[in-house]
Amino acid sequence: MVNFDEVINRVDSDSFKWDAANRALGSNDYIQMGCADMDFKAPVEIIEELKKAVEFGIFGYVTQSKTFEEGIIKWYQERHGVEIAKQSIVYSPKVVIAASLCVEAFSRPGDSIILNSPYYPPLDEVSLANGRRVIEPPLEEREGRYVMNLEKLETMIDSKTKIMILVSPHNPTTRIWTQEELEQIADFCVRHKIILFVDEIHSDFVKSGHKFISMAAIKGPIQDLLVLANAPSKTFNVMGCQISYLIIPNAKLRAAMSTELDRIAAYDANTFGNALMKVAYQKCAYYIDELNSYIDGNEEFMRTQFKRVLPKAIIKEREGTYLLWVDFNEQFSSEAQMMSFFRKAKINFLPGSHFGPHFHNFARINIGCPRATLQEVINRIEQAL
Ligand SMILES: Cc1ncc(COP(=O)(O)O)c(C=O)c1O
Repeated sequence: MVNFDEVINRVDSDSFKWDAANRALGSNDYIQMGCADMDFKAPVEIIEELKKAVEFGIFGYVTQSKTFEEGIIKWYQERHGVEIAKQSIVYSPKVVIAASLCVEAFSRPGDSIILNSPYYPPLDEVSLANGRRVIEPPLEEREGRYVMNLEKLETMIDSKTKIMILVSPHNPTTRIWTQEELEQIADFCVRHKIILFVDEIHSDFVKSGHKFISMAAIKGPIQDLLVLANAPSKTFNVMGCQISYLIIPNAKLRAAMSTELDRIAAYDANTFGNALMKVAYQKCAYYIDELNSYIDGNEEFMRTQFKRVLPKAIIKEREGTYLLWVDFNEQFSSEAQMMSFFRKAKINFLPGSHFGPHFHNFARINIGCPRATLQEVINRIEQAL
């Protein structure tokens, strides 16, 4: 069993989640629950592989490992039940870089990109920074579930709408799109000849009772419009090693993305990303299985405790990820009041306004941490109250 209960102090380790946020807040006293990065060690198999790379001692240019595609094919086959053709796989350094290159490859300045709100901000930024407009339809809540309103979206697009960015499972709402929803999105893109960039980086975090379906499993013409991005980074908490990959079934789209990757000279992986790819998908499935049940336990803990200490907070139904999407509108009169309360408690997370204009007074709380950290969060809330 992996010991997810181990508390590791990450302060002063140059962690973006901890140190960048502490520096911005001017104090090391906060519990950081913002950035989607977990406070767990990676699987031992990955650590051993990285040690081997360090002990080898030469850190020259890297050519992709011979088993790079093998691991991805095995993972998608075993975990998601879908066959991926070897030639459709393309190395990419980071998912957000791939999203930016996709915008460059398949649209022009002045064109528009669809990205549902609430959204992971860097995916909004890749369009805006490239001079594109972003159409941001808010997800709508129906029977406690966030859904897309594709009928409304029909009225928001025009001939300059070239790309949809779909985050699946969705960050921050944690939705895992159903087969039917994926088919409807696919149909929408096919009818309007819109390239579909699907970000499946959270696909391995699935709450018990739910099932993730990859867009790669949706049959039909959508496969010719699909640029799918994924990475082992969230799954094994190895974001700092910077490795990701694309699955692009259509040869022309694949060539266009490869040209973009070449344009920014992103053709070689770093030593550590390359090393971990040799074992992550081959040997570490047990890790994410155990982690998923630990996260389910963390969610249960938070629900029970929040009912007691912040009874008016509504933790939205979690389907995947290691995030809680919480509506504090009944608990606090404004987002400023919410943030001021949590500042007093020395707890930091990302407020709803971080994820677009429609979800003020919400919070995305990262529960990818030991239960003892969550207990400390509850203690601090009680003290602040
Ligand atoms: C939906 C989503 N996509 C992409 C990323 C970042 O991926 P990368 O570091 O590979 O750019 C994150 C990180 O939080 C994320 O939540």
